[in-house]
Amino acid sequence: MTASVLKGKTIVLGITGGIAAYKAAALCSRLVQAGADVHVIMTESAVKFIAPLTLQTLSRHHVHTDTFDERDPSAVSHIDLADRADLVVIAPATANILAKMAHGLADDMLSTTVLATTAPVLVAPAMNVHMYAHPAVADNIRLLGQRGVRFVEPGTGQLACGYVGKGRLAEPDEIARAVEACFEERGSLAGRRVLVTAGGTIERIDPVRYITNDSSGKMGIAVAEAARDLGADVTLVATRSVGALPEGVRTVTVESAADMLEAVMDRFDESDIVVKAAAVADYRPVVKHDAKLKKTGGRLVIELEKTADILEEAGRRKTGQFLVGFAAETNDIALYAMDKLRRKNCDLIVANDVTAEGAGFNGDTNAVQLFDEGGLAAEWPVLTKREVGLRLMRLVAERLDARPGKRPDAPSGARDGAGGLAGPKGTVYGEEADS
Ligand code: CTP
Repeated sequence: MTASVLKGKTIVLGITGGIAAYKAAALCSRLVQAGADVHVIMTESAVKFIAPLTLQTLSRHHVHTDTFDERDPSAVSHIDLADRADLVVIAPATANILAKMAHGLADDMLSTTVLATTAPVLVAPAMNVHMYAHPAVADNIRLLGQRGVRFVEPGTGQLACGYVGKGRLAEPDEIARAVEACFEERGSLAGRRVLVTAGGTIERIDPVRYITNDSSGKMGIAVAEAARDLGADVTLVATRSVGALPEGVRTVTVESAADMLEAVMDRFDESDIVVKAAAVADYRPVVKHDAKLKKTGGRLVIELEKTADILEEAGRRKTGQFLVGFAAETNDIALYAMDKLRRKNCDLIVANDVTAEGAGFNGDTNAVQLFDEGGLAAEWPVLTKREVGLRLMRLVAERLDARPGKRPDAPSGARDGAGGLAGPKGTVYGEEADS
């Protein structure tokens, strides 16, 4: 393992109570040798399998076992650790900790810290073959995967309980490689300029009335945050329907489709990746009244005219930009997505069936299919929008890297985002059908 990727990184290593807990010592040692600052949390059961002194000696830090064992009066230790972590690794992870994480339980130092952290979480499960195959465990793993928790799959072989099957903790080297890959991913968009649009446009009728749509802007925000977390220089063009704006991202606030067109085109040539997640009004009132409209009779007819299609304009103007469009559909998704891809000259269309459960405008989850010129490129199950954003940006980074030509130089010390990780190779995310 190269020292550089983990050097100076704060890793919280959670150890839970399984026979494989002894392997966590080797993992801790490798991470420390690679330059990481490792802080260990052990559950009550874990200390029955391996002595905290072993981990304390290897990590050179006090090992946390009790939420209420507050040694430093200036800090609340589980919050402090949760805040400082660049990554939380749980190895081995029992069925119990997976269930607690899936359901938000916080009854010990480890589960409380995991709930309190915004850092990415990597989990290496280990348990009896039948426990691992149990639908309850499988459901918990799937749920956690949807929320962006990474997994290092257990191996198959002789288990300590006497069974032969899947459930053996991955080897410390494999887990350490997955940890390293987590950090490597963070620089995958370093040096790239990403332009993202988010939210529903507002088309004015008069100074106090307008036409808009239900877009919450959450998908665009998630994409902007993911791009930032992978090291990109991000500009977000957002309407006011978007709530809290992300940190570490340049934001331009616009109102109408015309404003958005201008803001996008002003920045288009200098962008490497353009993601049009905004819900742009297709029509706007022909007349925008300067004064408030007065009631006249029983009917009011407002004439609408077509707005400019920003994505289509971007497609016409594109030189080397990687252009991503969105398609919210209710039927014939593949047909419409492919039509949009070609008509708007996109590199990728992210399509979703807005009538499907877990997909759509206002929720925190989405279920999308990705189309490129070859047709269906990926299909992901219901995921948090944050996870969709991360997977999307990881895919775009891979595609750009695969293009011939020079990769932009990553600025030295490319920033690490607090939240996001795209998935390291050899790491399992739950169900997916990436091509
Ligand atoms: N879009 C845009 N400018 C518009 C309308 C849409 O840039 N005036 C972009 C959206 O940001 C999105 C994509 O186009 O990325 C798809 O939006 P949609 O409204 O579904 O596209 P249309 O081709 O207008 O779809 P339809 O034909 O179904 O109305």
